Amino acid sequence: MTRVSGDDIEDDSEDAGTEGESNRVPVLLVRGDREYLVEPGGEQGTDLGVLEVPTDVQSGDTIETHLGDEFQVRRLRGPDLFHHFERTGAPMVPRDIGLVIGETGIAGGDRVLDAGTGTGVLAALLARAGAEVVTYEQDAEFADVARENMALGGVADAVDVRTGDVTDAVDVRTGDVTDEVDALKPSSFDVMTLDTADAPAMVEHAPDLLVDGGFVAVYSPFIESTREVARTAREVGLANVTTRETIQREMQFDDRGSRPTTAPVGHTGYLTIARNE
Ligand SMILES: C[S@@+](CC[C@H](N)C(=O)[O-])C[C@H]1O[C@@H](n2cnc3c(N)ncnc32)[C@H](O)[C@@H]1O
Repeated sequence: MTRVSGDDIEDDSEDAGTEGESNRVPVLLVRGDREYLVEPGGEQGTDLGVLEVPTDVQSGDTIETHLGDEFQVRRLRGPDLFHHFERTGAPMVPRDIGLVIGETGIAGGDRVLDAGTGTGVLAALLARAGAEVVTYEQDAEFADVARENMALGGVADAVDVRTGDVTDAVDVRTGDVTDEVDALKPSSFDVMTLDTADAPAMVEHAPDLLVDGGFVAVYSPFIESTREVARTAREVGLANVTTRETIQREMQFDDRGSRPTTAPVGHTGYLTIARNE
C-alpha cells in the first residue's frame, strides 16, 4: 500500500503497477488545508486521528477519524499529482503542461515519447488526457520513484517508464535490435515531449520518430538551450518552429485596487514547438 501525506511518502507494497492497480486508484481525503492521498483499503494517520479508507470508497463520501473528525473524499484530479507525487527531477507546472497539450493537441489514442521522466508529472497528466506514454529516465532511482508515482496517479497501465538514456535508445535503434528499440520504430509517435538538457540530440530524430503532422514540444528553463533546440529543429526540416516564454502573472484583488501580484515574476521555462511535415 502506498500512503502519501504532504511531502512524505511511505511505500510498503511490492506490487505497485501490477494487476488490479487501476481499480485501487487513491482518493484525496480533505479537511481544510489537510490533504492526504490514500488508496482504498488503506489507513492514514493524521494529527486528528487515524483514517481508515473502505475499499469501496467513493468521491463525495465522508470519513471520520477514530477521534470523530470528518474528512471529505475527493476524486484525484491531474493538478493534485503535482502536489502529491514524490519529487525527483523538477516537475513541469500544470499551466505549462496545459500549454503543451493545447499546442500539440495530445488526446486519447495518441502515442507520446517523453524524456526525461523526472518526477513524472508531465507523463502522468498526458496519460490522464488519454495518451499512451513511453517515457525514459536515465537515473534508475528516479525511474523507480516515477513508476511508484504512476501507480499513485492511477496511470501505471498507460505510462511505460523505461530506465535509460533516451538518446542512447534512439541511437541503438539505428543499429541494434532489442525490445527497447523496437518500441521506437520510425513514425511511431504522435508527439515527443522533451524536458532534458540534451534535448537537441533528440530533436534531430524527430523527423524519423514522429508521424506525419506530429509535434515535438521541448521545455527548457534556459534561453541558451532553447536557442539550440530551435536551431536544430529548423536544420532537420521541422516546420512551424515557435518558441514562447511561459510566464503568468497572478492577479491580486484587495480593498485598495486590483493589480498583478508583486510576488516574484513567474518565469518557469521556454517552450519550443515544431511540427513534422
Ligand atoms: C526536469 S526533469 C523532467 C521533469 C518532468 N518533465 C516532470 O514533469 O516531472 C529532467 C529529467 O530528465 C532526466 N534526463 C536528462 N537527460 C536524459 C536523457 N538523455 N535520457 C533520459 N533521461 C534524461 C534527468 O535525470 C531528470 O530526471
